Amino acid sequence: MPKRIKVLDKEFEVSIPGKEIQKAIAIVADKMNKDLAGKKVIFLGILNGAFMFAGDLFKKINFPCQVTFLKLASYQGTSSTGKLKSLIGLNEDLEGKTVVVLEDIVDSGLTLEHIIKQLKGYEPEDIKIATLLFKPEAYKKDIKIDYIGIEIPNDFIIGYGLDYNGYARNLEDIYTLVKS
Ligand code: IMP
Ligand code: MG
Repeated sequence: MPKRIKVLDKEFEVSIPGKEIQKAIAIVADKMNKDLAGKKVIFLGILNGAFMFAGDLFKKINFPCQVTFLKLASYQGTSSTGKLKSLIGLNEDLEGKTVVVLEDIVDSGLTLEHIIKQLKGYEPEDIKIATLLFKPEAYKKDIKIDYIGIEIPNDFIIGYGLDYNGYARNLEDIYTLVKS
């Protein structure tokens, strides 16, 4: 039986152990080290969800780069609301740089589309997308995702940065909602 936990009113069970997450991140970092070395890279971690992914990934990046975080929220409860806020916290100059967007998860792709639209206005040389988790069945956009850590089914998950109403971001493993 996978480990179960209760968060607020819902039950979740472990679906991706922390070790597997770390393996997936190491593979993404290896690819980035090969593809992006020598470019003027700035990583943009999308808060809050991507903070753990970003932190673990950066430790494995071996070329000089800039790192910053942006905020943009779109989720309330366990289903996408479609309501998006604008990007906040971007003070860096992106002109001529390779921007690597780091997302915790790409679900419908709406958030990603919104971020890219706004980033284009800063005239970066290139925009690359990296996400730790990807729900292929839920994805509705045709924006290419350059780096995907782990593909997952279309279920609600928490842990490793991802939350349920603000809780569970601190968990080392990823848990899936148990359907009742
Ligand atoms: P999208 O705009 O539908 O692609 O949703 C992306 C955002 O919704 C992510 O950055 C997360 O913050 C949140 N999200 C999507 N799926 C989940 C999930 O299963 N658990 C928790 N948050 C999620
Ligand atoms: Mg997010």
